Amino acid sequence: QYTAEPFVPEGAGLPGLREAAAGCHGCPLHRDATQTVFGAGNTDARVMLVGEQPGDQEDRQGRPFVGPAGKLLDQALAEAGIDPAETYVTNAVKHFKFTRAEPRKRRIHKSPSLREMTACGPWLAAELALVEPELIVVLGATAGKALLGSSFRVGEVRGTVLEREIHGRPERLVPTVHPSAVLRADDREDAYQGLLADLKVAVRTLA
Ligand code: URA
Ligand code: SF4
Repeated sequence: QYTAEPFVPEGAGLPGLREAAAGCHGCPLHRDATQTVFGAGNTDARVMLVGEQPGDQEDRQGRPFVGPAGKLLDQALAEAGIDPAETYVTNAVKHFKFTRAEPRKRRIHKSPSLREMTACGPWLAAELALVEPELIVVLGATAGKALLGSSFRVGEVRGTVLEREIHGRPERLVPTVHPSAVLRADDREDAYQGLLADLKVAVRTLA
């Protein structure tokens, strides 16, 4: 049974959690990745955003959502009326999972397994306990499965407000698509407007 549990310090603030997570060996994903990419942002945030896992850029830089998906997300947040600097941003899984088509070639993102998401859950639980957000924006299917269970389907619940107990805490959640899915969409503008509409639901829920 993979788990981050023994690595999570009790009562730590964000710097303490980040430092401990840097040494996490709770599942095999730490072996090939460059570094742990812990959550970042404002620990007083009203909104926590949860993505899947760090991408190539995040793995190199050690910060979540600093690559192309993050740029798009920041734009959509600002347009919806949420200051990105006022949020806390993290991922369901804190290490980059990838394969290479050939040795030394470009690293290709691989989705984390349910075991890996479950293993990394104690870090997310610690972040939720620390930030105590009023609202969680769930970015895509992996974050949804990690937070709400394996039967989660983003298409069924996106843009709605869910109330669930998450890691022992009553939480409100608004699921939406992952910004990477917007970047990959055939009709990118349409996909972007969909993301924006869901984020506006989040804004109205906070008001
Ligand atoms: N995609 C994610 O889910 N998280 C990141 O941090 C970057 C890209
Ligand atoms: Fe630990 Fe999560 Fe990284 Fe696995 S993915 S080693 S549980 S931080």
